[in-house]
Amino acid sequence: MSEPLGTVIAADESPSTSEFSFVVKGKGVLKGQYVQLRHGEGLLFGFVSEVFKANRYYERAESVADFERGPGISNQFPTDSWEYVIALVKVLGVFDGGRFQRAFMPPSPGAAVYGAEPDVLRSFLGFEENGLFLGSIEHHDVPARISMTRLLQKHLAILAMSGAGKSHLASVLLEELLSREQKDGRVAVVVVDIHGEYGGFAHDPVFGKKTTVIEGGDIAIPLKKVNPETMMEWLPHLSAPQRDVLRLALSGLRESKKDADGYSFKELIAAIDSADVSKDEVKRALKRSLSELKRHRFLSRKTENPKLLTQVRPGHLLILDFSPIDSLRKKQILVSLVARRLFLLRKKGKIPPFMLLIEEAHNFAREKAEESEAVSRAIIETIAREGRKFGASLCLISQRPVNLSTTALSQCNTHIILRVTNPNDLDHIQMSSEGIDARVAKSITGLKVGEAILVGEAVNYPVFISVRDRKSEKREKGAPLHRQAIEFEENAEKKAKNVEAFL
Ligand SMILES: Nc1ncnc2c1ncn2[C@@H]1O[C@H](COP(=O)(O)OP(=O)(O)OP(=O)(O)O)[C@@H](O)[C@H]1O
Ligand SMILES: [Mg+2]
Repeated sequence: MSEPLGTVIAADESPSTSEFSFVVKGKGVLKGQYVQLRHGEGLLFGFVSEVFKANRYYERAESVADFERGPGISNQFPTDSWEYVIALVKVLGVFDGGRFQRAFMPPSPGAAVYGAEPDVLRSFLGFEENGLFLGSIEHHDVPARISMTRLLQKHLAILAMSGAGKSHLASVLLEELLSREQKDGRVAVVVVDIHGEYGGFAHDPVFGKKTTVIEGGDIAIPLKKVNPETMMEWLPHLSAPQRDVLRLALSGLRESKKDADGYSFKELIAAIDSADVSKDEVKRALKRSLSELKRHRFLSRKTENPKLLTQVRPGHLLILDFSPIDSLRKKQILVSLVARRLFLLRKKGKIPPFMLLIEEAHNFAREKAEESEAVSRAIIETIAREGRKFGASLCLISQRPVNLSTTALSQCNTHIILRVTNPNDLDHIQMSSEGIDARVAKSITGLKVGEAILVGEAVNYPVFISVRDRKSEKREKGAPLHRQAIEFEENAEKKAKNVEAFL
């Protein structure tokens, strides 16, 4: 062990099994640092939760005021040499060589406190040698390498306010997943990219080979592959008679076109028209509702894009770029479509274990949604509840956790939280994340961009990390604001000149 950092002191109700203070030797202790000390048969581990400074020359306001009216205390007394630092430590547990357990006895006053050794700290926090390298922990030379299984199997939520670094962290996670070797276990990754932020992966010299980008507008599914239940989920307002007609028409088509390679929307409409139902009113209303789906142009006769069966591959990234799509409803329908097919194919073992990453997840699994807005919520909640048995993982990203389905959020066993300042969001996160106590919650508002706290299944204790830099190129759609403004004016000038020249 290196030089001790300081010595445990006896103070009011401390040392206890949950907290102790120590006087720091020199000045080398920082808030957030991990410390250890010999304790009974093992090592007691703790986390410096606060650092205080004291100096008895300055304890009495009256005498400070008095001296400062004159030449000042520091000019008359050796005040500097009386300053000392006290670190307050929150006890995390005891390591007895192989196991971590709770502390049943406090450390003794007078015990020497040391900085945590990297190896022990690694296993104490639950990091893994070949885990996903997401960043580093503050004040220690220990990379945050998180076990993939612990991070993803029971789902992950990345929560923070806008601009705090969620997408950056998600990109780092993708890089790690794409860099894994077969022997370590590789999952397939599907990203619902709302703003077209992940396209850079396709142009990257390393990751480009493993990336496929599909434009949202090109997503298509053969009508033949859509079962009546799914279609009814997309059209929640259908009345019972309308549902009957739709079911009748679809199953009739399925029967009569068994040998055809597909059927078109027109044929579906024709099947409805010829359905053996007396009320034309019902048929008309159903056709009106279906025309909305038609307008979204993703139901095809034969075309299937993406071909999930072949395009979802281990260690590969499939990006669904939703940035060209304006309609939220269309986006929800597509998420519902893709998530349903993924989960089904995975349950049948036809595609590898996968992670489905959804940006702006509150728009796709909204807590208080109107029926028509809830199309994709059911399947997201289903995967959240049942996915882990089948190797179907979710990574939900949201800047509005208050609006995110509590069912989905509570099934995300790991939360990575970056900066959040809105008190409502903070309360909600605190309620839905086990392991966030008032002290941790307070530090969430103080996080800087790129700093995160990890809580839950993936780590043994909540841990603060600085997210590492990206390796892949960041390539966002849309130029920065000033560029767009310059371009606009330049174009306007050009146009004016052209008009002048013409006249
Ligand atoms: N760990 C980091 N290191 C360096 N730069 C970072 C880090 N995290 C975020 N950034 C930068 O901060 C900016 C905002 O990050 P990002 O786009 O990831 O935020 P966000 O939380 O996804 O925001 P939004 O809610 O608007 O989608 C970006 O320019 C990004 O490159
Ligand atoms: Mg983002």
